[in-house]
Amino acid sequence: RPRVLSGAQPTADSYHLGNYFGAFKQWVALQDDFEAFYFIPDLHAITVEYEPALLRERTYVAAAQLLAAGVDPARSALFVQSHVPEHAQLAWVLSGITGFGEAGRMTQFKDKSAKGGSDAASVGLFTYPILMAADILVYQADRVPVGEDQRQHVELTRNLAQRFNHRFGDTFTVPEAHIVKATAKIYDLQVPTAKMSGSNASHAGVVDLTDTAQQAAKKIRSAVTDSGSEIVFDPAAKPGVSNLLSIFAALTDRPVDEIVAEFEGRQYGHLKVALADLVGDFVQRFGDRTRELLDDRAEIDRVLAAGAERAREVAAATLEQVYDRSGFVRPS
Ligand code: TYM
Repeated sequence: RPRVLSGAQPTADSYHLGNYFGAFKQWVALQDDFEAFYFIPDLHAITVEYEPALLRERTYVAAAQLLAAGVDPARSALFVQSHVPEHAQLAWVLSGITGFGEAGRMTQFKDKSAKGGSDAASVGLFTYPILMAADILVYQADRVPVGEDQRQHVELTRNLAQRFNHRFGDTFTVPEAHIVKATAKIYDLQVPTAKMSGSNASHAGVVDLTDTAQQAAKKIRSAVTDSGSEIVFDPAAKPGVSNLLSIFAALTDRPVDEIVAEFEGRQYGHLKVALADLVGDFVQRFGDRTRELLDDRAEIDRVLAAGAERAREVAAATLEQVYDRSGFVRPS
C-alpha cells in the first residue's frame, strides 16, 4: 500500500479548527487506502521559546485530540517524533545537500523570524524545513496531507529527495503534497485575510478545539464580516463571509454553493447564528471525547509506544540505506 505521513506541532495549548479542516480531516480519510504515519513533532516545537512542562502537557493533549479527530491506532501509527531518533539523524544528512540560500527562501521562516529581533530566530527555526523533509522521506511517504502553508516545505522535500537520489542512487520516494483546496487555508475570524493560527496574538478569531460550546459560538457570532449584506462566496471581495461559508461547508460535508443557496435573501447574522450552533456542538463533542481520552494517560502512552515501534521499523531501514549510500562504514 502507498504511504501517507503528516504531523502537527504541539506549540499551542490546543489544536484549532484550521488544523482540523486543513489537515486532520484528510489524515483520517486517507488512513483507509494508505499505510499511515501520523506524529507529533516535538523536535520542531523547540525551535521557538517554550516551557518544558508545557510541551509535555501539550504533547498529551495533541495525542488525545488526534485520537478524538479519528486517527485510528489500529490502522495508523500514531507517535511522537522524538521517540524515533532516525528523524533527526536523517535531517543531519539532508542538511549537507541543502543550500543555505535554498533554506533561506522558505517563507514561513522569513515570516516567523521577522517578528522578533535579530537573535529572536534560532538556527533550529532556520533548519526546521530540513527536519520536516527528513520526517517525510524517512518513511518513503507517497502523500503528505497538509494545509496551504506547508506547500513550500513539501516542495523543498521533493527537491532534496530528487537531489539525493541523483547524487547517491535511487533511495527516496518523491512525495506529493495532498492539499484540499476548499479547506487548505481557514482564516482568522477577526482578521479574515490572515490564516487561523495558534500563535496569533489574540484567540478571539481562533476556534480552539478545547473551547467550550459557548466560547466557540461567541467567536463565530463576533466574526468580522464584510461590507454589503449579500451572502456570496467571493474570497477576494468578501473574505469574512467566504471564510464562514468554507467552515460551514466543511463541517456539514456539503458544497459551498448549497449553503449559499440556503441563505439566499438572508443576512450575515443568520449565517453566523446557524454556524455558531454547529461549531458549538462540534467543539463540545470533540472536547468531551478529548477529556475522556486524557483521563487515561497510560493508554495514550501505550498507543504512542506501539506507534513508535512500528515507525522505527520503517525509519531504521531507510536510515541504514541512506548511511550506506552516503559512504559511512557500518558497524560490523
Ligand atoms: P502546523 O503544526 O503549523 O499545522 C498542522 C497542520 O494544520 C495545517 N494548518 C491549517 N490548514 C488550514 N487552515 C489553517 N488556518 C491552518 N493552520 C494550520 C497545516 O498546514 C498543517 O498541515 N511543519 C508542520 C508540521 C510538520 C509536518 C511534518 C507536516 C512537521 N513535520 C511532516 C507534514 C509532514 C507545521 O508546522 O504544521
